[in-house]
Amino acid sequence: MKVSLRSLVLTAATAGTLLASTGLVLAADPITERMHGFKGSKHAMAAIRDAMASGHQAAITAPAKEIAAFAARIPSLFPAGSTNDQSKARDAIWDNFPDFTAKAKTMQTSAQALADLSASGKATPAQIKSAFVKVTESCKACHQHYKEKE
Ligand code: HEC
Repeated sequence: MKVSLRSLVLTAATAGTLLASTGLVLAADPITERMHGFKGSKHAMAAIRDAMASGHQAAITAPAKEIAAFAARIPSLFPAGSTNDQSKARDAIWDNFPDFTAKAKTMQTSAQALADLSASGKATPAQIKSAFVKVTESCKACHQHYKEKE
């Protein structure tokens, strides 16, 4: 096959432009953004679990705050009907949006309560544990209704 240098250069330039524009679309895509955020919350929960196991209470505050901050953004990351082949979001979200928003709020307040408690430096392990369980319950309460099973 005879390929001119000119067309090769053009092909590379076009591919580069396509990649760049795809990147822009992905960054602004609420589905990708929320999946990323939920993964972050999962990692933050693991970090909190580690900190609890080692009795390192001060290390709980930052990940708990991160969870609360993401939770506050959840409603805005679910614009009406935003779903695709990869998404595990159920249509029930948009049929019950006030309830969905309330469940995001519970995640936010329970994570913030855990952050405040750990930041006080005066909490007992039992108090921390109970605040942590409330956060895990807030995840489950929403997934049960609004997330497809694996
Ligand atoms: C208000 C509802 C709600 C709450 C609260 C919630 N989630 Fe989710 N979560 C969802 C929905 C809906 C999806 C599916 C999103 C999608 O695929 O578009 C999801 C997806 C996920 C995923 C999969 C992300 C991926 O890779 O696709 C993880 C992990 C996750 N959530 C962890 C958590 C953790 C940990 C908490 C609590 C700290 C939590 N979630 C709280 C609704 C919620």
